[in-house]
Amino acid sequence: MSFYSDKVIIVTGGTDGIGRALVDRLMEQGAKVVTCGRNYDKLYQLQTMYAGKTLLAISADVSKESDCQKLVQQAINTFGTIHVLINNAGISMRALFSETSLETLHRLMDTNFWGAVYCAKYALPYITINKGTITGISSVAGYRGLPGRSGYSASKFALQGWMEAIRTELLDSGVNVMWVCPGFTKSNIRNAALNKDVEPQGESPLDENNLMSAKDCAQYILKAIEKRRRSLILTSQGKETILLNRFMPELADKMVHKFFFKKGVLVK
Ligand SMILES: NC(=O)c1ccc[n+]([C@@H]2O[C@H](COP(=O)([O-])OP(=O)(O)OC[C@H]3O[C@@H](n4cnc5c(N)ncnc54)[C@H](OP(=O)(O)O)[C@@H]3O)[C@@H](O)[C@H]2O)c1
Repeated sequence: MSFYSDKVIIVTGGTDGIGRALVDRLMEQGAKVVTCGRNYDKLYQLQTMYAGKTLLAISADVSKESDCQKLVQQAINTFGTIHVLINNAGISMRALFSETSLETLHRLMDTNFWGAVYCAKYALPYITINKGTITGISSVAGYRGLPGRSGYSASKFALQGWMEAIRTELLDSGVNVMWVCPGFTKSNIRNAALNKDVEPQGESPLDENNLMSAKDCAQYILKAIEKRRRSLILTSQGKETILLNRFMPELADKMVHKFFFKKGVLVK
């Protein structure tokens, strides 16, 4: 029997990318899954695919506290408890700080940081009873500020700082708090990334087919939750960047600049 059989798992942002892969893997393993997103068509498609199975796909925008409260309440009304919360829903951005609107930065913080805080606040009492897990999908950008992604990096640094604090607060409670830093993973995130005017970019600057698959990423995440890990950093490029930044931060500035800029123009 799988570790996830009959466990109640909330995955925010389960209609695309890594979240969708998490939902699919969890459903294969007999979990009771509650997920959310903002796009009604994607939610409908997901719910239809798992009709008659233990999946609840809800329209909820995690940047709104009331939607997060509703998400948790619907999980309780349907399945009676919560074992694991995976705060996965997230958006990115591509725009220089000097040019970007403040609204783009607010959207990043509201979704990637506050969305995780709201969901954890309402789910924690149930997760505590089960000595379960709160997971946050962070990024290498939560260890190393990335150009063109100042709001994204800020939101992921905030996420990790907050998670480290509550992990420590909850040490004696039996609740495990874990953050995950995927490297570049094939998904919709770069298409949906906001530009300076708070609009989706509509294209990816990377060859998505050369990136880690969302399925592999989801498998690593689920294994780490099962093992009650503290953190998980995926891809060797991610590990090298974090190590370089820790021990040689000035060299890291130059190498990160070289990776993201060509002739002074942000190209990635
Ligand atoms: N892919 C990568 O290279 C990569 C690398 C490092 C970290 N990550 C992190 O991994 C997580 C998942 O990203 P992904 O790459 O899988 O992105 P993705 O393919 O764009 O999927 C994002 C999911 O989150 C949902 N979402 C976005 N904003 C939301 C909101 N306000 N409320 C509810 N749901 C929302 C999206 O649905 P709707 O748009 O319909 O709401 C979608 O289901 C993010 O936290 C991201 O920062 C990704």
